[in-house]
Amino acid sequence: MFNLILFGPPGSGKGTQSDKLVDKYGLKHLSTGNLLRQEIADKTPLGIEAKSFMDKGQLVPDEVVIGMVDSYFEQHKEARGFLFDGFPRTVAQAIALDKLLELKKTNIAAVLALEVGEEELVKRLLNRGKTSGRSDDTNEEVIRKRFAVYSNETTPVAEHYKKAKKFKSIRGEGTVGQIFDAICEAIDKKIQQ
Ligand code: AP5
Ligand code: MG
Repeated sequence: MFNLILFGPPGSGKGTQSDKLVDKYGLKHLSTGNLLRQEIADKTPLGIEAKSFMDKGQLVPDEVVIGMVDSYFEQHKEARGFLFDGFPRTVAQAIALDKLLELKKTNIAAVLALEVGEEELVKRLLNRGKTSGRSDDTNEEVIRKRFAVYSNETTPVAEHYKKAKKFKSIRGEGTVGQIFDAICEAIDKKIQQ
């Protein structure tokens, strides 16, 4: 298996690039944000619990998210590899992911982190909020809260993978095509190793 993490703050382009990457590399896209929004749309108990956190820009509790990822693995046993988008977001999630992958006799090949300045991120998210229907995009206060949560709870995840020498930064500003090319170059290097 070949597993990648696409890392980066809210609005950095993880979802946009994931859609293109899964086609090119035949990976399964695992976006915890998308899975949670589906649970909300289906009005499941998990979705109802998650919504109260997401609407405020806070993280959904680790055990909820880890349980959801575990059951996604159960449902996709045939996958050649996963592209993780928006997960792991805490060190506890990263440790849980390492363990789940170990059980599958695999690991993370690389963590590619999209670097984008905060003002550009706010602009992108407010712009998306006009059409996305995402309650966490329409209000600048909630957007700023998501950045604060990212900085406090998610940036330590980068350290976790830097220690394991798996972390690589990629410039996330420019056209979608330019960024895609830079990501593919990093992935192709990894595959050749
Ligand atoms: P999640 O859905 O993961 O959202 P996010 O991390 O806040 O990131 P976004 O999806 O907003 O941004 P993105 O990086 O995917 O960028 P995109 O490609 O869309 O999480 C939402 C919430 O769910 C969290 O706040 C939390 O509550 C909960 N949650 C999710 N996972 C969790 C977890 N593991 N643990 C706990 N809680 C969790 O691009 C953004 C916009 O910019 C788009 O409009 C796009 O068209 C545009 N754009 C993209 N690339 C470019 C470019 N190069 N130039 C100009 N515009 C661009
Ligand atoms: Mg996304």
